[in-house]
Amino acid sequence: MSILVINGPNLSTLGTREPEIYGTTTLAQIDAGLKAQGEAAGVAVETFQSNHEGAIIDRILAAKDDGTGFIVINPGAFTHTSIAIRDAFAAASVPFVECHISNVHAREEFRKKSYLSDLAVGVIVGFGISGYRYALDFAIAKVKG
Ligand code: DQA
Repeated sequence: MSILVINGPNLSTLGTREPEIYGTTTLAQIDAGLKAQGEAAGVAVETFQSNHEGAIIDRILAAKDDGTGFIVINPGAFTHTSIAIRDAFAAASVPFVECHISNVHAREEFRKKSYLSDLAVGVIVGFGISGYRYALDFAIAKVKG
């Protein structure tokens, strides 16, 4: 069973995007760290980023039958808007953790609403990019049983 890490819109720009909120680490660096973390635990980690809602939905639906045991997702702004991504998780029924770099509850009001949180096994917010590592740690334990 492998683990899939999905990043949504604008997370491709980590490193230069609003560094006071998201830090200066690039997504490529985060992905490399997560793959190494998986390798050390003997679990394959695949990473996927898209700015397109439909591409993210297609990847979640494909995860139902491709050996993915767990998903870690930072859906970016789609968190607050996408009933379609919510429905994809309900259809695929692959367990997932929702992860946000920033504390969405300490920001604008519209960031407090998530269409995914109640379907998630858990939610990690506000721990910076370390949140991905914590989420993956949990996911590794789950797929290893
Ligand atoms: C984010 C928070 C979202 O509100 C925002 O749209 C993002 C990043 C985070 O990781 O803190 O793109 O998901």
